[in-house]
Amino acid sequence: MADRRVIVKVPASTANLGPGFDTLGMALSLYAWIEMAVPADGETVIELLNEELDGIPRDKSNLIYKVAQRVFREAGADVPELYIAMYSDIPLTRGLGSSASAIVGALAAANALIGSPLNNDRLFQIATELEGHPDNAGASLFGGIVVTSWDGSRAEHIKLEPHPELDVLAAIPDFHLATEKARHALPAEIKLADAAFNVGNSSLLVAALAGGRLDLIRHAMRDRLHQPYRAPLIPGMAEILEGAVDHGALGAALSGAGPTLLALIECGSGRKRELERFLLDTLAREGIAAETLWLKPCASGTEITLLDRGEPTLTEWIKGEVRA
Ligand code: HSE
Repeated sequence: MADRRVIVKVPASTANLGPGFDTLGMALSLYAWIEMAVPADGETVIELLNEELDGIPRDKSNLIYKVAQRVFREAGADVPELYIAMYSDIPLTRGLGSSASAIVGALAAANALIGSPLNNDRLFQIATELEGHPDNAGASLFGGIVVTSWDGSRAEHIKLEPHPELDVLAAIPDFHLATEKARHALPAEIKLADAAFNVGNSSLLVAALAGGRLDLIRHAMRDRLHQPYRAPLIPGMAEILEGAVDHGALGAALSGAGPTLLALIECGSGRKRELERFLLDTLAREGIAAETLWLKPCASGTEITLLDRGEPTLTEWIKGEVRA
């Protein structure tokens, strides 16, 4: 183990997809990379390689370090000192699953470092417990579109292959929104009619995605459990969710707890620029600057590579793959 190095590549994810609150997730073609090794000189070193990660702890209070120790404890391994490096293209606290990708990446890297004693199902259970819901973690671990459920002790999932014609437009506002704040905006109780509306739409959405019925997405992506309550936190959101289908989208949703807004569109559509303009202009009218990213659903989940000490560093490894 002393000579083993591990690099994991983890996709970002979008949770809920509208009606599937805390249950549906989709992996996206935007990534974080984590390297883990036993340090040559015995001291823990944590290197955060890009600006997005500034402000994250570089000592043993670091989330990746703590999650790795959780794996070692469960597997009966003793690895108190670690070399950890991370590079992430996934913006933090914007609703693109950055914390789930860090947790899943840490679990996968730590497990691989000690010879993979835990299987993927076990990693999924731990990630769900740490996150409090399985949607983002399931998507980052397994890739594709994940349909999940969690009863508080066990999480189940089925992975669907994303339709090849789906493109994803993410409009990422230039402000942070903590998941905790976005969850506080939700009521403790909801009406039976709203619950029934969401059960119907979430089921329809899964069936439409599985069966290639892209025409149904516009109806099925509607939600009454969380988006209406979160809309006041993201000026322009209600108008975007309402109007995106009139500008070429198959459907639109708040990405996870937000503030990123997400629109699905057929990859051959001639209305992509129109849709992008609509999202940016609507946010700009509310005084919100945003960055747009064109992404694809990511069919594969976390990828693990075992390396020897002399092989490329993480910075060399990811060259050409990261966003400019
Ligand atoms: N399903 C979660 C939510 C995703 O909407 O709050 C964010 O962690």
